Amino acid sequence: MKIIDSPGKRQTQQERYEKTRTLIYPDSGLASRELAAEVGELIRLRQAKGESVVLGLATGSTPVPFYRELIRLHREEGLGFGNVTTFNLDEYYGLAPDHRESYCQFMRDQLFDHIDIPRENINIPDGTVPLDRVYDSCLAYEAKIEAAGGLDIQILGIGRTGHIGFNEPGSSKDSITRMITLDRVTRKDAAADFLGEQNVPRFAVTMGVGTILKARRLVLMAWGENKAEIVREAVEGEVTDQVSASFLQEHDNATFLIDTAAASRLTRRSYPWLVGSVSWDDAMTRRAVVWLAKKLEKPVLKVIEEEYNETGVGELLTAAGPAYQVNIGVFNQLQHTITGWPGGKPGADDSNRPERAQPHPKRVLIFSPEPHDAFVGMGGTIDRLVEQGHEVRIATQTSGNLRVSDVAAYKFASVVREMAEIIGGQGWEGQLSYANDIIGQLEDKGEFGLDPDRVRKLKGLILRGEARDAARVCGVGDEALRFLDMPFYEAGRYRRFNLTDADVSIMRDLLGDYQPHQIYLTGDVADPSSLQALCFRAFEQALPEDGWLDGCRVWLYRGKEAPLAAHEIDMAVPMSPDQLALKSQSLRKFQSINADELETPERNRETAREYDRLGMAEYEGIEAFQRWRRSK
Ligand code: GLP
Repeated sequence: MKIIDSPGKRQTQQERYEKTRTLIYPDSGLASRELAAEVGELIRLRQAKGESVVLGLATGSTPVPFYRELIRLHREEGLGFGNVTTFNLDEYYGLAPDHRESYCQFMRDQLFDHIDIPRENINIPDGTVPLDRVYDSCLAYEAKIEAAGGLDIQILGIGRTGHIGFNEPGSSKDSITRMITLDRVTRKDAAADFLGEQNVPRFAVTMGVGTILKARRLVLMAWGENKAEIVREAVEGEVTDQVSASFLQEHDNATFLIDTAAASRLTRRSYPWLVGSVSWDDAMTRRAVVWLAKKLEKPVLKVIEEEYNETGVGELLTAAGPAYQVNIGVFNQLQHTITGWPGGKPGADDSNRPERAQPHPKRVLIFSPEPHDAFVGMGGTIDRLVEQGHEVRIATQTSGNLRVSDVAAYKFASVVREMAEIIGGQGWEGQLSYANDIIGQLEDKGEFGLDPDRVRKLKGLILRGEARDAARVCGVGDEALRFLDMPFYEAGRYRRFNLTDADVSIMRDLLGDYQPHQIYLTGDVADPSSLQALCFRAFEQALPEDGWLDGCRVWLYRGKEAPLAAHEIDMAVPMSPDQLALKSQSLRKFQSINADELETPERNRETAREYDRLGMAEYEGIEAFQRWRRSK
């Protein structure tokens, strides 16, 4: 399908809630390849006519697969960029172009250093202009875009505040390039890049909404579940300066390119019965009835015939019979997801239980992309699995060392140094020199410097210690922990990780050795360049075609992403107040990780409240899982 130069607003019945043209792709790779092919075609077309192309570019994880594909087109298919001029959307204020987190550096790493674009054709807002000259410099940036002939295509991502560029809520439709204060959510999202929110710049220089809307063509990309809600607001909501991406609705040639996870909250995906006829299988029926009950703020069993008809779900009754029968069916479906026996209940009839009774005990393998993820997502369930006699192994896929603050490493090294000085003496020279070395390296690199290997290693070990403590709280001993330290993570940085065969083979070996009956993991709906998504991909690639896998059930938990909604849950493990307290206790062991990053058990309480409102039993908390099946 042509993405570029396609008519702006052409709609099917299905898309009728969408006010900006939106194309949904199975994954970000395919979408990015198609966009790159179209951009490449435009470049070639103009080259043939001796004309230039002006591209507006964006930073962030989102455009990375697109840039990789442009680089591939350059290397393998001879696409030249000699006639291309680029203007980037934005830059952090106060960061020099060679700062490792500056957008200048990002663009060099991700694109410019790998293609033949003339250096003088590259334009990025200057984050180092003194305050009293920022205004003039912004005007000059605008003028330069004009002088180049205006933007042919502007590539956009979207921040969770709905911003494009750095146009935070409140940016007006005609705003131009200017300095802006970054929103708290935006700074939180950048915290991992800067090793802590406190290090994230407070200001940025960004093209305005008006600057962006002047581009002849706008393409906004978004991947992963975390973007689903803001994509819905931007595409289906009102045009408002509170969501600057909503202004794309007023552009006559704008397209959203999104993956299925980012599309999950659009009406055509969430409530397909509102936009067309659907096939009423169990999953669709549950989705509709749960939606209806929530909307009416009633338990499932109290929804009546008229309410189905008045809310556009009447068709379900025609297909599946009177309301009470449909309601009971969904009530039972929900009821059957609840189990206090996540590993299966031995000796019980398991025909309506999420997990098989046999074998018992099971070999259970839990993957945690970063050391804390599994405890955030399923700490209570880990405790139950152990208590119910299963052989639980937790495999921490990455060391998570980039998460650990300098302060934690410094603290450890100072304790070692002091020990060596106070109780050491002869034989402690090695420890003393190690501690001094770490302290020296931390001081040399400064707050923003890259961690030398030795420091990274130490930070990883600190986190290992914390993971052991957390696991012990959940009843898992040291012998049951595996630290995979997958190489893609050790060699990379946030937003710039690359999965390799070595990563996949580590996973393959572990799976082959252990041959689990049950696997728990996360990352299926994460931003595709996040380490959680890469860990998930490594798992998919490592799976054998058959053999032990036939006797294994795979369960997905949610770590950072939005919790599973009631209609998506296949297994709900209830938790008592004591179990929830135990989970909090295990999470508190991750002292070197910013507390904000450890979702509190409040999410588990909310899931329990959701079940309660639907008329299920009232629990203190629920950990929720979805069954994973390999797609054919
Ligand atoms: C930053 C950038 C935006 C980008 C957004 C989303 O705020 N200024 O241009 O769209 O981040 O980033 P990501 O693509 O990493 O989700």
